[in-house]
Amino acid sequence: MDFRKNPKTDFKDIEELSEEKARQEAEALREGIAHHNYRYYVKNDPVISDATFDKLFNRLRRLEETWPKLRTADSPTRRIGAPPADSLQRLEHRAPMLSLNAALEESKLREFFDFVRRETGQTELIWVAEPKFDGASVEAVFENGIFRTAATRGDGHVGEDISENLATVRTLPLRLHTEKPPTSLAVRGEVFLPQKAFQELNRKRLESGEEPYANPRNAAAGTLRRLASKIVSRLPLDIFFYDILAIDGEDFSSHWKELEAFDRWGLKTNPLNRKLSTFSDLSDYRQELIRQRGDLPYEIDGIVVKLDDLALQKELGARHRSPRWAMAWKFEPKREVTVIENIVVQVGTSGMLTPVALLQPVEVGGVTVSRATLHNEREVRHKDLRVGDKVRIERAGDVIPEVVEVIERPNKYAHKFHMPEKCPSCGAKVVREGAYVLCPAGLSCKAQLRGRIRHYGARDALDIDHLGTETARQLVQRELVTSLADLYRLQPQDLVNLEGFAEKSARQLYDAIQSARTPRLDRFLHALAIRHVGQSMAQVLARNFGSLNKLAAADENALQRIDGVGPEIACSVVRFFRDNRRALDDLRKVGVEVRTMPTRKSELPLQNKTFVFTGSLDGYTRTEAEQAVEDLGARTTSSVSGQTDFLVVGDNPGSKLDDARKRGTRIISETEFRKLVARFRGA
Ligand code: IVH
Repeated sequence: MDFRKNPKTDFKDIEELSEEKARQEAEALREGIAHHNYRYYVKNDPVISDATFDKLFNRLRRLEETWPKLRTADSPTRRIGAPPADSLQRLEHRAPMLSLNAALEESKLREFFDFVRRETGQTELIWVAEPKFDGASVEAVFENGIFRTAATRGDGHVGEDISENLATVRTLPLRLHTEKPPTSLAVRGEVFLPQKAFQELNRKRLESGEEPYANPRNAAAGTLRRLASKIVSRLPLDIFFYDILAIDGEDFSSHWKELEAFDRWGLKTNPLNRKLSTFSDLSDYRQELIRQRGDLPYEIDGIVVKLDDLALQKELGARHRSPRWAMAWKFEPKREVTVIENIVVQVGTSGMLTPVALLQPVEVGGVTVSRATLHNEREVRHKDLRVGDKVRIERAGDVIPEVVEVIERPNKYAHKFHMPEKCPSCGAKVVREGAYVLCPAGLSCKAQLRGRIRHYGARDALDIDHLGTETARQLVQRELVTSLADLYRLQPQDLVNLEGFAEKSARQLYDAIQSARTPRLDRFLHALAIRHVGQSMAQVLARNFGSLNKLAAADENALQRIDGVGPEIACSVVRFFRDNRRALDDLRKVGVEVRTMPTRKSELPLQNKTFVFTGSLDGYTRTEAEQAVEDLGARTTSSVSGQTDFLVVGDNPGSKLDDARKRGTRIISETEFRKLVARFRGA
C-alpha cells in the first residue's frame, strides 16, 4: 500500500478489516497524506486532486475513530483541531527566545558590521540575510522527529502552549522528513496569515461587529491563541522557520547549514534567504526586497542579518536579551502626504457608523490610496482632522491606510467634524456606545441589509451557495429583498434576471435558500451578525441558552453570568433582540425554524466534568462516546491533566492510563461508562 503515487481510493469496508490490516492501512495513509500535504502546501505542486485527498483523509479519520489507538501524534488528523480548552497552559522554552536589535538608518548597520569585525578580529565574514516577517514568533519542539509541542514567545522564557493550534498549520511537518532525526529539536519560526486571508478575516470581523486586527502580526498572534483549534484550522496560517533554539543529536557549524537542514527535514524556509559577504551586498539585498515587498503574499517589515559562523555567534553572545551577532534593518514605513477632500460616514453590516476620509488619490508603497478609515469620532477629534487639511497618511501593516496627522490647514474656517445624529442610510436616531455610534435599525436598515444578507449566507453561517456579495448587492438594489425574510419569498423567476444568473443557477440559489430553513442555533446566531457576536461567541450563547426564545428573553444579568460574556456583549445582544423583534417574527412566519441545541447549564448532570478516553471501546466509536457525555454537559479532552475527572479505559489502552494512575484520576471501564451514561440519560 502506497498512497504517495496514484493512490487508489476503493477502500474495503471498515468492518471487514482486521486490526492489523487497519494499522497497516492507517500507517500508509498517514505517510501518503503527509506527502501530499507537503506537495500542496510547501512545494505548491500537488500531484493528486483535492477530492482524492479528501477521500484519503476521511478514510484515515474513520480508521482512527474505529481504532483510537491507531491515532498517533504525527497523524494528519491532528490538523483539523480539537474542541476548545478553558485556557492556554504555560510552557517553558527549551532556550530563551531572544529579540533583535533593530534600526532604520544605514549608519547603524555599518556600525554593527564594524563592531562584529572588531570583536571577532575577522575582516572576511560571511553573513546570512533574511526577510523580517511580520508575524508571531513561535517555538516548535520535535522529539525523535515527531512534532510534540509549540509555544508563543511570551516573556522569552515561558510562553503559552499552542501545540494543537500549530498542528493545524498545514506547512508544519508533524514528522520530520528524515530517517535519522535529531533526538530532540526546538526550532523557532514566524507564523503569519497571508495578506489575502488577513484582509478577509478583518472584513468578517467588521461585519460581525468585532474590532479588526490592526496588522498581520496581531492577526496571527490572536488566531494562534484562540482556544478552539477547530476554528483555527480553517484559517490558512503559514510558517517560516529561521532558527534552532536547542538541538540534541546533531551539530551544525553555520546558520546556513541549519537552514539547509530545515529544507531537508521539511521545515519551510523562506526562498529569499541569502548568503552574502559585504555591506554593499546587504544594501543591494535590502533594495531588492523593498522592490519585491508589494508582490509578496505575506508582510515583511525589514531584513535581518545574521553572522553565519555559529562558533563566532557563541563567542559574541547576547546582551540585553538580544544577540550581538544579528541585527534587523527595518524598512521605512510607507508614508505620503495628501489632502482630505471630504469626510463621509459609512454604515457597516452590524450598524456601526464609521467616518471615512475621501483623499486626493496618492500612491503609497505601490498602491493608490483614495480613502482611509478614521475609525470613530473620538479619533477624528483627537487628531482634529477637517475637510481641506493637508495630512500625512501611512499604510500600517501594508493594508489599511491610516491618517497619521495634520500637516497644514489652508482653510482656517474649516468646520470641526461631528457624527450625524441620524443614520445616513435609514434615518433612525443613532445610539452611542463609548466611542462608537451605531444605527439601531438592524435588519431594517438598508445599508446594513446587503452586508447582512451576504453574512447570512456565508459558509460558516447558513452556508447558502451562490449568495455572494454581488448577488446580495443586486437583490437589495432591485428591491427584491428588503429583509432577511424576503430571501425565502424569492421565486426562481425573480432570480433568473439577475446579472450572472441563468435558469439553472437561479434554481440552485432558490433551492439553497429553501434548504436553509432549519439552521442550528449557533449558526443562526452567527448569521444574524449581532455586534460583538462572532462565530465562537455564537457557540457560547447557543450552548448556554439552547433555544432562540430563551436567548431572546434573557436580560443583561443573565447574559453576564456566562463565562466570556462582558457588559458590551450582553448589551449588544439584548439590544439586538429588542430592536429586531419584527424581523425575527417575519423569519418565523416564512417558515424558518431554528433548531435547539443541548445546553451546558446546571440542569445537565455532567456539567463541569472532564472525560478522557483511551483504548478502543466495543459499543461506541470514539466520537459517539465523546458525544454521549458532551450531550450531558461534560467536556472531553485528549490528555489526562489535573482537571480530568474520569479516564474511560477500553481495549489496549495507551500511556494515558499510566498518567491517570500517577495522578490518581478516577478510572472507569466501558461497562461503568455505559451505566453512567444510561443513568443520566434516564434522569
Ligand atoms: S531571528 C536570536 N529572523 O523579529 C534571533 N527573527 O524584532 C532571533 N523575526 O522576535 C530572531 N523574521 O519574531 C529572526 N528572519 C527572522 C525574523 C525574525 C521575523 C521576528 C522575531 C523577533 C522579532 C524581533
